[in-house]
Amino acid sequence: MNPFVLNEWYVAAWGTEVSSDPLARTICGDPIVFFRGESGSVTALADRCVHRCYPLSLGKVKGDVIECGYHGFTYDCSGTCVSVPGQTNIPRTARVKSYPVIEQGPWIWVWVGEPEKAASVEVPSHDWLQDNKWRWIGNLAHISCRSGLLVDNLMDLSHESYLHAGFIGTPEVAATPIESSVDHEAGIVRVDRHMQNVECPPFYSKSSGISGRIDRWQDIEYRPPCLYVLHSRVAPTGVIPNPDGSDPEAIHMKILYAVTPETENSTWDFYAVARDFSVEDDWVSEFLTEMQDTVVRQDVDALNVLEKVIESEGEKVRELSIRIDAGGLAARHMLKKMRER
Ligand code: FES
Ligand SMILES: [Fe+2]
Repeated sequence: MNPFVLNEWYVAAWGTEVSSDPLARTICGDPIVFFRGESGSVTALADRCVHRCYPLSLGKVKGDVIECGYHGFTYDCSGTCVSVPGQTNIPRTARVKSYPVIEQGPWIWVWVGEPEKAASVEVPSHDWLQDNKWRWIGNLAHISCRSGLLVDNLMDLSHESYLHAGFIGTPEVAATPIESSVDHEAGIVRVDRHMQNVECPPFYSKSSGISGRIDRWQDIEYRPPCLYVLHSRVAPTGVIPNPDGSDPEAIHMKILYAVTPETENSTWDFYAVARDFSVEDDWVSEFLTEMQDTVVRQDVDALNVLEKVIESEGEKVRELSIRIDAGGLAARHMLKKMRER
């Protein structure tokens, strides 16, 4: 079975990471070089020169082409070699693979698989990062674990009560049962957890000023393989949304994770937190950045440990699943089907 789900869009970089300085990044086992040509558009090519396999990411971008840093083979944005040293005749096979790329909002998405299939599939929607009503912060973490472990982690938020106690976790998260479902048509796994009359963790109380008991909703939508969105709603206890869907007394956050496999045993974790309150307040962004970076670091440390355990114990690894794992198991099942197709 293929270790990766192919023929899908994956977040490969923040737009701010890609410039005329080539960026080397491995996605689903493929070494890829990303660069921004003089036209401003982003190109993604196999990061291996056809001549002697030198990484193109160690070369130079000149205008809209990239020149290999070893002997100067030069490639245009389609991956075609347009110049070689010492001769005018360019071998017909001198080309590197080019990857379809879309820059949308703050993210650069790359299509891994058969390039001709990319045009028929849209990048999953992540509007909150592209809408002035929302303000967001974001970052990138590298995890030395298989991507499935990050998906497990995100699908089961009961871990917040233990791994993130004092940050986003309170005892009620683990104590509240979940409802999970799979929307096969949309290809989405959902896990909802609605907590009533609970303690407000510092992540929300300090950033929003809400004090006292709250109702806290955590509604997960995972669209395998890459995009995970946690719809978070916090309101003073008893407040419910209006029939028209407006919800002025509550605060809302969208916590996005783009889960991109680097190799079979390592993962890029692009995360963002968008909010619909205090959008003018820089200190809230700073506070949420510090909190979210800390929370992600706690997950990364745990997942790095877990990967080592799984690798060293191999076949001997046994698991025991309970009700809270329903969403995670549904996601695993969907990812397996996608790898097999
Ligand atoms: S390895 Fe790239 S030009 Fe020789
Ligand atoms: Fe976590």
